[in-house]
Amino acid sequence: MTDVSMHLRFLAACAIAREAGHLVRARFQQRDEMLKLQFKGPQDYLTETDAEVEKLIATRLAESFPDDSFFGEEGGGAFGRKVWIVDPIDGTADFARGVPYFCVSIAFVQDGRAEIGVLYDPMLDELFAAQRGQGATLNGQAIKVSPIDDIRQSVVELGWSARASFDRYAKVLTRLNELGAGVKRRGSGALGLAYVAMGRQDAYCELHINAWDAAAAVLLVDEAGGWTNDFLTEECLKSGNRVIACTPKLRAVLEDAMDV
Ligand code: IPD
Repeated sequence: MTDVSMHLRFLAACAIAREAGHLVRARFQQRDEMLKLQFKGPQDYLTETDAEVEKLIATRLAESFPDDSFFGEEGGGAFGRKVWIVDPIDGTADFARGVPYFCVSIAFVQDGRAEIGVLYDPMLDELFAAQRGQGATLNGQAIKVSPIDDIRQSVVELGWSARASFDRYAKVLTRLNELGAGVKRRGSGALGLAYVAMGRQDAYCELHINAWDAAAAVLLVDEAGGWTNDFLTEECLKSGNRVIACTPKLRAVLEDAMDV
């Protein structure tokens, strides 16, 4: 693929993430009338907005790039050689409960490698964007990971979902606390990773996360000068993977802490 057609995809992903985010924000603001809590599984929320927004993104991408394939969290799809991987709302639990912390996530993956990663937080109007080899930006300004190299000065977000055993999560949490990290957990893995890319925190780790949650944001961290594990494997596309994303100097200590 030429650089020009990749850049066209990048610009389209940014525009579509913003359009989709505006719809998410509008639905969030109307949520009092429409709130109906629904679950896909234990602690796994589903809202009608997820499906509505995913459909909008899929339609826009198909209009511009009819030969690309598409895979979305809600509706699934197919993994072709050139595929868009989309989470219409990452942070669905917060969205459903009225907490303004969620984003739209769009990744473009070619031959198994993430080439474009775009996240849009519609409540803060923050667009995080990366194209492989071109750096990472927040609302058009270059971003980079923090200079923190000592775990005792670090803020580490340790994500959790019911897909990983609480016992393993608790072991990692205990280790991180013993090492002196400031550990937190919020409700959007994608935003947690983006916050590493721009230095609001120093690491994001999770024992299991799906490709649609993290593919775009892992590229952001890479492009912002961070270190990430080999996340987007073939297996990950089908069934997720562990993720570790951090400032380069925290790599060894975090790989060790996550090894449970
Ligand atoms: C979830 C969030 C959460 C992470 C989970 C994800 P969803 O995605 O990113 O922070 O810990 O692993 O499944 O359900 O909000 O799209």
